[in-house]
Amino acid sequence: MRLILLGAPGAGKGTQAQYITEAFGIPQISTGDMLRAAVKAGTELGLKAKAIMDTGGLVSDDIIIGLVKERIAEPDCAGGCLFDGFPRTIPQAQAMVDAGVTIDHVIEIAVDDEEIVKRLSGRRVHPGSGRIYHVEHNPPKVEGVDDETGEALVHRDDDLEETVRKRLAVYQEQTRPLVDFYSNMSGEDAPACHFIEGVGSVQEIRAKVVAALGG
Ligand code: AP5
Ligand code: ZN
Repeated sequence: MRLILLGAPGAGKGTQAQYITEAFGIPQISTGDMLRAAVKAGTELGLKAKAIMDTGGLVSDDIIIGLVKERIAEPDCAGGCLFDGFPRTIPQAQAMVDAGVTIDHVIEIAVDDEEIVKRLSGRRVHPGSGRIYHVEHNPPKVEGVDDETGEALVHRDDDLEETVRKRLAVYQEQTRPLVDFYSNMSGEDAPACHFIEGVGSVQEIRAKVVAALGG
C-alpha cells in the first residue's frame, strides 16, 4: 500500500505516520526528516536546505524529486510506503505519476491555523529518531527528554510563530491544490481520497485514519 498524508504544517502528519507505519508495516518517507538529517550531517544539500527551511519556503522540486526517487528504490519500499510532507507541489506529484508510482490513498488532515500555531509552539522533537511530542497534548514521560533514549528534546528552528505563518501561506498556495489534483484523477491509477477533520485527540484522529484505510 502506498499512501500520502496531506495537511498543513502541524496538522499531525508525523504523529499519525508513526502509528500507520507500525500498523501496516510500511516505511515512512518524510522529506522534512530527510532534509533535517542532511542539515544535521552538514552536507551541501543540508546547508542549502537549512536556509530555505528557516524562512518557511520550499526546497526546489528537482532536489526533492531526486531524493524521493532514490529513497523509493530501496528494498524496504517494495511493499509500499507512507509519504509525509511529499508531494508538496503539483510538479512533485506529476513526477510520481510520470514515474509510474501509483498511490492507493490520499488522506487530507485539516486543522485551522490558530490551533496549528498553538500546536507548533508546544511541539518538541527528538532529533535522532524524529519522535514527536507536545508539552501539553502528548508530553514525554520526563519533561524535556525522549522516552526511549533519554536524550534531550528540541524545539524545531522553523516553529517560530512568524515562520509557521509563512509555512501556512505556502501550504495554501502550493500544496492544497494537490487535493484537487488527486480527486480529479480518474482511471484505475486514481487514489481513494479521504478528508479528515484533524481536531480531536491523537487517538480520535488515528481511529478516523484507520477507518479511511479500511481497517
Ligand atoms: P516538514 O517536516 O514536512 O514539515 P511540515 O509539513 O511543515 O509539517 P510538520 O512536521 O510541521 O507538521 P506535522 O503535520 O508532521 O505535525 P506533527 O505530527 O509534528 O517540512 C519542513 C520543511 O522542509 C518545509 O517547510 C520545507 O522547507 C522543507 N520540505 C519538506 N518536504 C518538502 C517537499 N516535499 N518539497 C519542498 N520542501 C520540502 O504535530 C505537530 C504538533 O502537534 C506536535 O507537537 C504533536 O504532538 C501535536 N499534535 C499532533 N496531533 C495532535 C492532536 N490530535 N491534538 C493535539 N496535538 C496534536
Ligand atoms: Zn512532520
